[in-house]
Amino acid sequence: MKNDTQAKHKVTERILQLADHWHSRLVEIRREFHMYPELSNQEFRTTSRINEMLQEFSIEKIETNLTTGTAAILHGKQDGPVIAIRADIDALPIQEENEWKFKSKHEGISHACGHDFHTAIAIGAALILRDLQDEFPGKQLPGSVKFFFQPAEETEGGAESMIHAGLLQNPSVNAIIGLHNKPEIPAGTIGIKEGFLMGSVDDFRICIKGKGGHAALPEKTIDPIVIGSAVVQLLQTIVSRAVSPLESAVVTVGQFHAGHATNVIPNEAVIAGTVRTSSPAIQNRIENLLTQSVRQTVEAMGGKAEIEYARLYPPVVNDAKVAAVLKQSAVKIVGATHTLEAEPTMGGEDFSFFQLEVPGCYYWLGTGNPEKGVIHGWHHPEFKVDEEAIKTGSAMMAQSVLDLMDKLK
Ligand code: NI
Repeated sequence: MKNDTQAKHKVTERILQLADHWHSRLVEIRREFHMYPELSNQEFRTTSRINEMLQEFSIEKIETNLTTGTAAILHGKQDGPVIAIRADIDALPIQEENEWKFKSKHEGISHACGHDFHTAIAIGAALILRDLQDEFPGKQLPGSVKFFFQPAEETEGGAESMIHAGLLQNPSVNAIIGLHNKPEIPAGTIGIKEGFLMGSVDDFRICIKGKGGHAALPEKTIDPIVIGSAVVQLLQTIVSRAVSPLESAVVTVGQFHAGHATNVIPNEAVIAGTVRTSSPAIQNRIENLLTQSVRQTVEAMGGKAEIEYARLYPPVVNDAKVAAVLKQSAVKIVGATHTLEAEPTMGGEDFSFFQLEVPGCYYWLGTGNPEKGVIHGWHHPEFKVDEEAIKTGSAMMAQSVLDLMDKLK
């Protein structure tokens, strides 16, 4: 038993050494991606550079039918578990306002969410795990590792395109892990929690058909603005009255369009907004309630409602077993005092599509560092990361993969 523990210690030490060894190269890689950011589903240069790097590092690329995005595999023991690491690779339509030599060369586009950093970390994890093969019997890891370089996280369809490309099969993935940088917690810390981490994302659009007419003769009309006002009020009561105070949901109306003149009651009003929830059950409940009660309210007031409700992302809900393993991995890499309970957010993330298929855990990698000016949140024009955290992230990914292989074998 003691020998086993010592051997595991030795592996962690080796992981940390390798993370150090590869760090300067990974910083270069991250800066290159930073200079050439590409929008969702247009990540052509990024994809071909990742493929070139895989070749350079002798890591096997998985052939796919994806237009952008790519995947790789390190083959381990044949009957061992298969773990996937997912990194997103797309950028945002935001003009970068940082001044440094690796500033975005693409006008109006930048990696203001740090997906360049996530990509470098996944490549770092691949390098560490590749080098670690030598430490294992037969120079093989106890299982296989897949690396998903996913397009289009910021818009939609990226995760689903990877699932449809069959990447979770042949060999079948047993668990998937992913991370997001988090400037709100210090570099050198990791935040993990089981269960709910990020909200589902749904959009709705309600068109209220009334009957227009003269503003001074309301009795001859069915006023869609008055009906719409009642609908907005109604929507506010869904969360407060139909969702347990111990659960989370948000219904926000972001648009209310109606009318063109002060003396005319228009024919219709359009209300649109977003719904965020913390579980698929609440997501179902709100969709049903919203569509039924809006229709009934509008009809009770004499109008007709056309309702479109679109489910974009399910919530990120972390598997308890995988999250528990990752907490232990984090303790090995950053220590117990730097392993935090992750704070959830209602922001959405399409990693959740993978979690509908296989157990998974998404976690926060601390990148905050006020001394280096790393204080801005995601999507800010001056968004930054502390590049030291590339080490922590790659080491954490490699350690998590080995710990999951150990627990799932
Ligand atoms: Ni992001």
